[in-house]
Amino acid sequence: MNFSTFNQTAEEFEEISALISSHLSEPYSIYVYWFFLNTWPEYCITVRLENDPKLVGVIISKVEKHRDVRLRGYIGMLVIDPVHRGKGLASKLVEMTIERMIQIDNVDEISLETEVINKGALKLYESLGFMRTKRLYRYYLNTHDAFRLILPITEKSMKRVAFLPALGT
Ligand SMILES: CC(C)(COP(=O)(O)OP(=O)(O)OC[C@H]1O[C@@H](n2cnc3c(N)ncnc32)[C@H](O)[C@@H]1OP(=O)(O)O)[C@@H](O)C(=O)NCCC(=O)NCCS
Repeated sequence: MNFSTFNQTAEEFEEISALISSHLSEPYSIYVYWFFLNTWPEYCITVRLENDPKLVGVIISKVEKHRDVRLRGYIGMLVIDPVHRGKGLASKLVEMTIERMIQIDNVDEISLETEVINKGALKLYESLGFMRTKRLYRYYLNTHDAFRLILPITEKSMKRVAFLPALGT
């Protein structure tokens, strides 16, 4: 398998948005893809077979301040082509993203949301240490609830926001 960072071409942008829109229940506009891929290309990792250029998986993420006191990584989208599921590709993409977020941005925590009925995704993330912190009522357009999951990285992630100084002070 070949794991690469988004190459910032229009062709790959099309491929990524097509793979995601055909396998995620939530419909995203082209602006959402553009927002992630244009601002944080380093956090878009693709996977292809060695002998076949077809895109088989992708993860898209970002890193931003959370309430001005912590740096929070956020995994926005993760999809593996159904033919290639069950081979550890999603786990590898999530692990690579966690490593990058620590190395590049020294994040305090990493968060994401997933549908409460998505047992496979919940098992995948929880096996990597993510914990359920909130249930978000009718979070998705299909009316399904979501769980918000967080992976704490630094001590800051375990302190209440009110007890933390603003970033940069
Ligand atoms: C969820 C998804 C990304 C998993 O991709 P994958 O490459 O098959 O996942 P992995 O092979 O890395 O699985 C790692 C672990 O996750 C869990 N897991 C993954 N899919 C599962 C499923 N369908 N049922 C139960 N557990 C599952 C297992 O614990 C698995 O470890 P194991 O194989 O040792 O038991 C893939 O099914 C997908 O693209 N689904 C549609 C989009 C989606 O739901 N994305 C996540 C939304 S946030």
